[in-house]
Amino acid sequence: MFTYLGLLILFYLKPSCALSTPENMRRILVTGANSGIGLALTKQLIADHGCYVYLGSRNAERGMKAVEEVKATAGESVELLNIDVGNDQSVKAAASELSKRLGDDKLYAIVNNAGTGVSHNTKPNEIMNTNTRGPKRVVDNFLPLLQSTGRIVNVGSGGGPGHVNRIKTEDPNWKRFLFPMTNDEIEKEIKIIEANDDSSIAYRGSKALLACYTMALAEENPNLMVTIITPGTCGLHHRVRIFE
Ligand SMILES: NC(=O)c1ccc[n+]([C@@H]2O[C@H](COP(=O)([O-])OP(=O)(O)OC[C@H]3O[C@@H](n4cnc5c(N)ncnc54)[C@H](OP(=O)(O)O)[C@@H]3O)[C@@H](O)[C@H]2O)c1
Repeated sequence: MFTYLGLLILFYLKPSCALSTPENMRRILVTGANSGIGLALTKQLIADHGCYVYLGSRNAERGMKAVEEVKATAGESVELLNIDVGNDQSVKAAASELSKRLGDDKLYAIVNNAGTGVSHNTKPNEIMNTNTRGPKRVVDNFLPLLQSTGRIVNVGSGGGPGHVNRIKTEDPNWKRFLFPMTNDEIEKEIKIIEANDDSSIAYRGSKALLACYTMALAEENPNLMVTIITPGTCGLHHRVRIFE
């Protein structure tokens, strides 16, 4: 399920949009796209693959700044979508807003990139709410806007398998992390992980559970291409090369 060959997001999106016209461009939502990997991905989808990107940002000011940067460096095919993946109301409102903007169009793909962890000084409950519950919240609300054969890319981390390796020695049932989990099972695991009150453990656990969620989502939606990738280690706030 995990791969270590750098960012495979674009491989799974296969966004060859060379023949696109503005009406039939591939439309992609990228969450947490005002910085880092999400911003770099947005630029490459537009500049190199002719896609149209809804740049997700929970903060309007940071989002607008990113949109301006994308327009100046990659192209005009971008617009801001305010979305806090950790907040039910925000995600619901964003889906309703995007539905209006799309009209009869559909999304080609959703990239659940927004994430938080130790480097952001966040607590376990925020990490879980963003990294594990966030993608589910987004999918639950945006699935009706996705093409019937669309794609969902969840951005995981090498920390996910790291979590599984860590618990192997102490938990005889560790293999449950290699299989799909129901939402109730995931919520139970979140409680166990949060009880450690350790943000590093929470980050790794959040990405392991994201993999279990992704497997369940793929099983439930056989017409969609549902994938979890790990980007490897990328310098924060630097432009990252995604295709090479
Ligand atoms: N960089 C790496 O080496 C690495 C390695 C493995 C996995 N990853 C994963 O890659 C993804 C992107 O990380 P990055 O390295 O590009 O970090 P980053 O530059 O800090 O970007 C994280 C993005 O997520 C957004 N975000 C955080 N919480 C959010 C929320 N509740 N709602 C909406 N957006 C939210 C941030 O927005 P704000 O500006 O508002 O905070 C920011 O735009 C994450 O899922 C991360 O776990 C990164």
